[in-house]
Amino acid sequence: MATDNPATNHSGEYTARNVQETALIAAELLPLMLRSGVVSLEGPLGAGKTHFVKATALAMGITEDVTSPTFTLLQSYGVGESRLHHSDWYRLESESEVLALGLEEYYGDGLMFIEWGDKFPSILPQGILRIRIEPHLEGADEVRVIRWGNH
Ligand SMILES: Nc1ncnc2c1ncn2[C@@H]1O[C@H](COP(=O)(O)OP(=O)(O)OP(=O)(O)O)[C@@H](O)[C@H]1O
Ligand SMILES: [Mg+2]
Repeated sequence: MATDNPATNHSGEYTARNVQETALIAAELLPLMLRSGVVSLEGPLGAGKTHFVKATALAMGITEDVTSPTFTLLQSYGVGESRLHHSDWYRLESESEVLALGLEEYYGDGLMFIEWGDKFPSILPQGILRIRIEPHLEGADEVRVIRWGNH
């Protein structure tokens, strides 16, 4: 599964063969994600971005049910240091719509995931961790390549 060590590398790539492996990768990347504070989650529809957020919540000890914030635009979970915020820019049409959400207020308060963060790169905070999930076929199996870095 692992090809790079996130403790020593600032970018790398994993391949997940099932949802459990995606969850293991989320747990592995947790220290790096917490250091970044804000994480842009990228990849096509159904890639597994929301699944990745759910798995991260569990790794943080958050037991609430994490659901897709496609309609609510921002959801927050947990208490104290285990705070997790989850935003989704898929349905937003302009930078000004994103700015109206006032997400900066949450940056630095635990961990903020932004699904579809690459939609408006100009307003993503600088230097944050970006994680891209790409499903592809390996023979008859659908696998997910998960790339992370500050690309
Ligand atoms: N290795 C895997 N990692 C993550 N999800 C997987 C994997 N294999 C299968 N799946 C399935 O793929 C689906 C991914 O759905 P999910 O809602 O997480 O995608 P998404 O990237 O958030 O989509 P959207 O862009 O619509 O928000 C889930 O039903 C999940 O069970
Ligand atoms: Mg999603």
